Amino acid sequence: MPVPLLDLRAQHATIKNDVIAAMLQVVEDQKFILGDTVSQFECAVAGVSHSRYAIGCANGTDALLLALRALDVGRDDEVVTTPFTFFATAGTIHNVGARPVFVDIEPRTFNIAPEAAAAAVTDRTRAIIPVDLFGQMAPIERLRALAPDVPLIEDAAQSIGARRRIDSEWKMAGEPATIGTFSFFPSKNLGGYGDGGMIVTQDEALFHRLMRLRTHGSVRSYFHEEVGYNSRLDALQAAVLHAKLPHLAEWSAQRRANAAFYDAALADVAEVVTPYVDPENESIYNQYTIRADRRDALQAHLQANGIGTAIYYPLPLHLQPCFAYLGYREGSCPEAERAAGEVLSLPIFPELTQSHLDEVVSAVRAFYGR
Ligand SMILES: Cc1ncc(COP(=O)(O)O)c(C=O)c1O
Repeated sequence: MPVPLLDLRAQHATIKNDVIAAMLQVVEDQKFILGDTVSQFECAVAGVSHSRYAIGCANGTDALLLALRALDVGRDDEVVTTPFTFFATAGTIHNVGARPVFVDIEPRTFNIAPEAAAAAVTDRTRAIIPVDLFGQMAPIERLRALAPDVPLIEDAAQSIGARRRIDSEWKMAGEPATIGTFSFFPSKNLGGYGDGGMIVTQDEALFHRLMRLRTHGSVRSYFHEEVGYNSRLDALQAAVLHAKLPHLAEWSAQRRANAAFYDAALADVAEVVTPYVDPENESIYNQYTIRADRRDALQAHLQANGIGTAIYYPLPLHLQPCFAYLGYREGSCPEAERAAGEVLSLPIFPELTQSHLDEVVSAVRAFYGR
């Protein structure tokens, strides 16, 4: 039985009526740009992320770009981040004219190593961007303690609804940082029917600045305080996402249940390291990413058995050709490099059936002769 890495049609089938009704309402209203549909969804995301303010934008990449601009990051500045992430995290640093400074990851969680990040801070550092990778929050409070004067942009593109216990209180993804950013790319736990993004913050001044930056730097039409962007969350996407939002918690819980099944079913396979979740974290498992001995051969074997997998990420960002000018070499971030050679993400989406899960487990076990 084939098992795809992700089956968005299976999810759509369960919510079709609600989503289509929400889209039709936007079509009937003919209000496609911002307006109530977007602001109601912004309020809902502020609620989910325990944030005072939420600003919709065109995608998760723009959310990072706008966040950097709102913190006045620009030419000759440095921004410390992880090399083991999707390209946008560092591409946006480059695109505001600043220099990405890559530091290594913690091998168990794949998230940025706080001590390494703090050690890389210089008098040019304007921000640190930790990424909540694969659905698990980065240790924001440790970064804050080690670099108290540096603003934190939490790239929570993969982690809406994840939470972390900080000083015995649950904090939601996006909540504890200076600015948090989300992506609604269709493969995310809360995915649109197209692109979408959101920025959250507790800071009123940053909120006003972000609102201005997303509409060409203007508050009043045709008067521009600064040069901004045209980066809005489309009303049709906001309608879809708002219709999906009530399901997010149950979908993420189902992903956790799937993860628990894999964890137990693969526990005795010594060649596989199942994902480690920091005891202070509750992951939303946007990905279920193992480390595997002979990873490429395992992936080929799974593919031959009709099982979809992916490698997130095959080449860490400090070794990407476009960042050669930064002067990193192989060995600069050894843990990120080792991870790139070992990781494999298995199907984890909430609509997987028990037969799908069994199929994946027996194919992995068979590869290692179990
Ligand atoms: C960690 C991370 N940052 C940023 C992004 C960019 O989001 P988008 O694709 O919505 O621009 C993504 C997702 O694709 C991501 O996974």
